[in-house]
Amino acid sequence: MHSTLPLHYSYHLIKIFLVAIVFVAPKMNIFGLSVAQESFTNSTCVDIEREALLSFKQGLRDPSGRLSFWTGTNCCQWSGIKCNMLGNVIKVDLRSRSPSATYRSSCLGGEVNSSLLNLKHLSYLDLSLNCFEGLRIPEFFGELKNLRYLNLSSSSFSGEIPPHLGNLSSLHYLDLEMKDDDTTTITFRLLSSNLTWLSGLISIKYLNMGNTNLGGQGPELFRSVNMLPVLEELHLHSCDLYYLPRSLSTVNMTLLSVLDLSDNQIQSSIPNWISNLTSLTELDLSNDYFNLNGNIPRECEDKASKEDLDPQLYYGIAGWIPESLGSLCGLKVLNLTGNLMTGEIDGFLDKFTTVCPNNSLVALGLGGNQFSGELPSSLGKLKYLKQLHIGQNCFWGSIPRTIGNLLFLQELDVSLNEMNGTIPKSLGKLSRVTDLKLENNHWQGVITEDHLMNLEKLQYLSLSTDRARPLVFNVTPQWNPPFRLLSLELYNCIVGPKLPEWIRVQSKLNVVILQNAGIEDTVPEDWFFNISSQVTLLDLSYNMIMGKLPLKLKFPELGTIDLRNNRFEGPVPLCFTNATYMFLQQNLFSGPIPNDISELTELRILDVSKNYLTGMIPSAVCEMASLDILSLRENQFHGQLPQCWNDLQRITVLDIASNNLSGEIPSSLGLLQVLRILSLSNNSLSGQIPSSFQNCTDLKILDLGNNKLSGNLPLWIGNDSTQFWILGLKSNKLNGTIPRQWCNLSDLHILDLAENSLSGSIPSCLGDLSSLIYSKTDLNNKYSVEDSYYFQEQMLMVTKGRVMEFSKTLKFVNIINLSSNILTGEIPHGITNLTALGTLNISGNYLTGNIPNEIGNMRWLETLDFSINKLSGPIPQSLSLLESLSYFNVSYNNLVGRIPQGNQLQTLTDVSIYEGNPSLCGKPLLSKCPGSDIGSDVPISQSPDYDSETELENLLFYCCGFVFGISGVWCTLWKKDTWREAYFSFFNLA
Ligand SMILES: *[C@@H]1O[C@H](CO)[C@@H](O)[C@H](O)[C@H]1NC(C)=O
Ligand SMILES: *[C@@H]1O[C@H](CO)[C@@H](O)[C@H](O)[C@H]1NC(C)=O
Repeated sequence: MHSTLPLHYSYHLIKIFLVAIVFVAPKMNIFGLSVAQESFTNSTCVDIEREALLSFKQGLRDPSGRLSFWTGTNCCQWSGIKCNMLGNVIKVDLRSRSPSATYRSSCLGGEVNSSLLNLKHLSYLDLSLNCFEGLRIPEFFGELKNLRYLNLSSSSFSGEIPPHLGNLSSLHYLDLEMKDDDTTTITFRLLSSNLTWLSGLISIKYLNMGNTNLGGQGPELFRSVNMLPVLEELHLHSCDLYYLPRSLSTVNMTLLSVLDLSDNQIQSSIPNWISNLTSLTELDLSNDYFNLNGNIPRECEDKASKEDLDPQLYYGIAGWIPESLGSLCGLKVLNLTGNLMTGEIDGFLDKFTTVCPNNSLVALGLGGNQFSGELPSSLGKLKYLKQLHIGQNCFWGSIPRTIGNLLFLQELDVSLNEMNGTIPKSLGKLSRVTDLKLENNHWQGVITEDHLMNLEKLQYLSLSTDRARPLVFNVTPQWNPPFRLLSLELYNCIVGPKLPEWIRVQSKLNVVILQNAGIEDTVPEDWFFNISSQVTLLDLSYNMIMGKLPLKLKFPELGTIDLRNNRFEGPVPLCFTNATYMFLQQNLFSGPIPNDISELTELRILDVSKNYLTGMIPSAVCEMASLDILSLRENQFHGQLPQCWNDLQRITVLDIASNNLSGEIPSSLGLLQVLRILSLSNNSLSGQIPSSFQNCTDLKILDLGNNKLSGNLPLWIGNDSTQFWILGLKSNKLNGTIPRQWCNLSDLHILDLAENSLSGSIPSCLGDLSSLIYSKTDLNNKYSVEDSYYFQEQMLMVTKGRVMEFSKTLKFVNIINLSSNILTGEIPHGITNLTALGTLNISGNYLTGNIPNEIGNMRWLETLDFSINKLSGPIPQSLSLLESLSYFNVSYNNLVGRIPQGNQLQTLTDVSIYEGNPSLCGKPLLSKCPGSDIGSDVPISQSPDYDSETELENLLFYCCGFVFGISGVWCTLWKKDTWREAYFSFFNLA
């Protein structure tokens, strides 16, 4: 149900809009009309032609009996048939009229009988919207010499288009587009492997081969098409063209008005010859960047990495908009959406508005590219513009004041840019605007009534800016705006402290997002009543809204509710009866979980973490059978966990950490087949780790730390069927040895066994933990798999802007922590094989022997703690090779000799990290080594401490990429959450 997510929703709208502009109203009538006009219903049918029609009918499958009325002698009166004065059939129109859900059962299928050849005067043949289920287009169509109109679109023909069609020299109109419609499950595609036949269609005005597989023959195609002297419309949507010819010797297509090359993954830049198509009114070179390309990362600052975009993943037209396009004065629609175009747009726009002062451009789609620069004020000269879509680029600066001249503007999308200036008041003149998308920029200034004054038609408003510098709405408290919105999405826009009147009067809202809006009010109950019956998404997160939710209210349509980080109080609300996602974390909700919660049967995510909920966890929780993610973390639940977990068969994440739970871990948790993350840490759970967990073969993260668990470390954890990435068992009462079987955990990245009573030696086979061994090829493979998921998910995450930067900081977090146990023996040399390890902590044990000389191989080490052991011998000089080392401690051992110098070690000047080793000498200690001692004591500031925030983010992203490979949506929400929280706490500090 991710269609309830705001951005997806909006982008869907854009897509529909652009598609609508370009495809609606193909000028079918213009091309076909002449035929219809000369028909005579009163004429009498020629016998041989009636027979031909009956044979034709016989070949057809006609489940709904549409042709059952083809009876009687005068075929000129049969439905779909038209004759000329002499009784010759001139028109056969069997287009299926109702492309609805039921049309699959009423469409014609079967065979196309060659008896049609007996219709010697046939000039119009329409078999569109039928279902021939993969039938080849008959070759004999090429012999219907009088044909002027042929429409086979969306009737599931497939295979090679017979080149015989090239004999139809009278044809004006040819439509072969096989559209994917929702009712077709199998996609039938036509194909043409040699396009020479096209040049025979010398009378063609309208040609549509949409969805035909042309296998990269872009150049060949245009060489043939260039022979068609009267062509007016060329529709080649989704034809796998890939390339356009760089040049055409002479451009013949001077009548061409519509050129639709959308979704062809074209990789050439825009060739100059396009500027010679002097009759062009519509040029569509867009790609559906939401569905096809995934999400092309915007590379606004980092110019170098632009070339790094993997051509397998990201394709599209590169380069600038040629200025010469600006001489196409007839242009009404220019759609370049979803490409890789760069540079500024003012060259083109200045030329267009200068050369064509009377232009009538109605739609300009430049979204989803890498365009940059300030928006030129010449935009204001596109007087008839209705749609301006320039979202998801790298534009900066302010919206030019001249925007107020676009009095016909209906849709303005500047979202997802780097706009760091102001929104002009002239925006308030745009009385026809219905959609304003301004979110994900760095806006400055204030929004006043003037900005919104005359926007009588406004239905969709979205606006956001940086959290650190919110936009302030400065409007008079009683202002009643002229619009009634369907969707209001404000992030980091201060409208509070009270919910203002201008929002309270919005009674038609379906989507409400007032995130971090500075509202410090009690629940605005009247407004809730106004919107409750139709609202589908309600996000009031990151405010200080107080009080209880109106419990009497029902929100029957509400799918997503996000109230996190507020001061809502009272019991867990149950008024969102059909909700799919409920985010209630970080509020003041209290009391026990009501038993009625079991009625929330649609719920997939419930997060009530960080509240004040009490009591036992009721078994009613297990009746929410759709649950995918349940977080009850950081509340005050006590007592035993219920036993009923096996009812939650869809659950992937269960987090009940940081409560006061006691008793044993229920073995029924082991029946959750798709469980991936289980956290029960920070409770008082006792007993052993249930062996039933070995059935959770998807379990990747198990965190049971800070409990009272006892017994040995289970051997089954090392079974081949497990896939643990993270094992958190610290601070329990576990004893025995670390099983050698665990060395098989080939996906393990974090092993935390600290603060237990583990004894024996560290198995040297730990050095075989393969995911902790740096190998460039592995890493690259994992990255690329992950990236593709990641970028798709970002599309849903972009509500907050700076998300892209996260993908770059993504790296593995690799930790082994065995500290504070009673381990003995030597540090196994094998452990130095773990070249990808970031943290190694074995402090507080009874380890003896030397620090392995090969320690310098572990070059990703950031944290190394050997303190409080019985290690002896020197500190190996190879330590100085650890360039990332930022925390190092060997205190309280029996180490001897000179402290190694060089590189990162130089920055670790805190003497305490060496103390308790009386025989160590050299800098930074005061005790000089026997022999030389060089250099002065220049104080070097300590390098920053372990950045726990960054690590947390990385960890979560890392987990998401893998754990949620499939259920990406949940991951997205989860990531968004964490990211938001991280960002928010940062802001609080600032
Ligand atoms: C395409 O078809 C034409 C005419 O049938 C033929 O002359 C030409 O060689 C073909 N081209 C290729 C590449 O097969
Ligand atoms: C232009 O069209 C004419 C007639 O259709 C054709 O003979 C000529 O080769 C075409 N020119 C080019 C460059 O294709």
